[in-house]
Amino acid sequence: MPGHLSLVLRLLIAFYTALAAAESAQTPLVQTAYKVGEPIPVSCLNRSTESGEHIQDASGQLSYIPFPTCNETGRPLELLFGVEKDINCTIDFIDDPFFHLLEFYVHNDAPMTCRIPTKPLPPSALKDQYEQGTKDTTEGQGALSEIYTPMIVALTGTLQLSHLHVSTSMNVLVHAAPKSVAPGTIAAATAYSISRDPPTRIVIGDALPLRFSVRWYPNTSLPSGWAGVGGHLTFSTLVYCLISAGASAAICLAYFRGIELPRRLKMHGKDRIGGMERGGSLGGYGITNGGGYGYGIGNGNGIGKRD
Ligand SMILES: *[C@@H]1O[C@H](CO)[C@@H](O)[C@H](O)[C@H]1NC(C)=O
Ligand SMILES: *[C@@H]1O[C@H](CO)[C@@H](O)[C@H](O)[C@H]1NC(C)=O
Ligand SMILES: *[C@@H]1O[C@H](CO)[C@@H](O)[C@H](O)[C@H]1NC(C)=O
Ligand SMILES: *[C@@H]1O[C@H](CO)[C@@H](O)[C@H](O)[C@H]1NC(C)=O
Repeated sequence: MPGHLSLVLRLLIAFYTALAAAESAQTPLVQTAYKVGEPIPVSCLNRSTESGEHIQDASGQLSYIPFPTCNETGRPLELLFGVEKDINCTIDFIDDPFFHLLEFYVHNDAPMTCRIPTKPLPPSALKDQYEQGTKDTTEGQGALSEIYTPMIVALTGTLQLSHLHVSTSMNVLVHAAPKSVAPGTIAAATAYSISRDPPTRIVIGDALPLRFSVRWYPNTSLPSGWAGVGGHLTFSTLVYCLISAGASAAICLAYFRGIELPRRLKMHGKDRIGGMERGGSLGGYGITNGGGYGYGIGNGNGIGKRD
């Protein structure tokens, strides 16, 4: 008998914990922080395949639907918080309506407007998002609430008579809010086609092989990615410039003192004697220049000493 009693007790405890868990799961929008590697679902604005216009529900709210299903995972596109990786997302079959949408995107009639939850959505909201589009009660018409961060997918390509050329290689940039301010929170996101890469030819019935290269930034400032010529001035470049300036000054100084100055002095002497030919006027400049060299020598010494 005591064995049975403890079993019943244990079942009761399990029942109550399950109940509590279910209840907490239903509490609306208590958003926690993302952990590194946590999946982030991408949803996009549902658009009319006739006009490309956004679709609203009865209460005038924009209707977001999950990103098309990737053949690789069998799920809509997901990013992983803080994880930089290449994600292949092949949309298996481009049906007629989706082809029309692609035409709108590529022809810039309508952007592919997507969004990601700024912080993890509670399970109830997530389920809602996957099943029927998220009813975001705080969202007015057109404006995105704080619950989501917009991510415009700038899909580029060209429209041909019978088919489309789509640049399917894409970069995805995601900024997290600084950890000290709001840990595990997304601050900004964007995705864009690499239009330089050879585009993919698409007709109705084809697959759309999207290739996403995802990069994460720990704050909202973009680091400078250009280290070569014409980029930002680094400390080593500055030091290099100073050293070469000093070296050239020293060489010039040696040249003028050792070769040019004695020659000019000699020339100057000859000019005085030898009339006003071309060399005469040059000689005249030579004298003022000679004064200039005086300053030049002073400067040269200055730089030379600094080094
Ligand atoms: C998008 O909107 C169209 C037109 O209202 C609707 O038929 C379709 O089911 C919607 N798509 C999804 C995935 O809800
Ligand atoms: C997508 O996956 C299915 C089965 O999972 C496969 O039959 C099909 O060939 C795949 N399509 C592409 C474009 O990879
Ligand atoms: C994505 O697909 C390309 C071919 O299009 C392949 O070379 C690459 O290895 C794939 N990457 C991943 C992460 O599956
Ligand atoms: C932002 O993050 C980068 C690292 O990617 C860091 O070098 C930079 O100092 C940070 N900027 C600010 C304003 O915190």
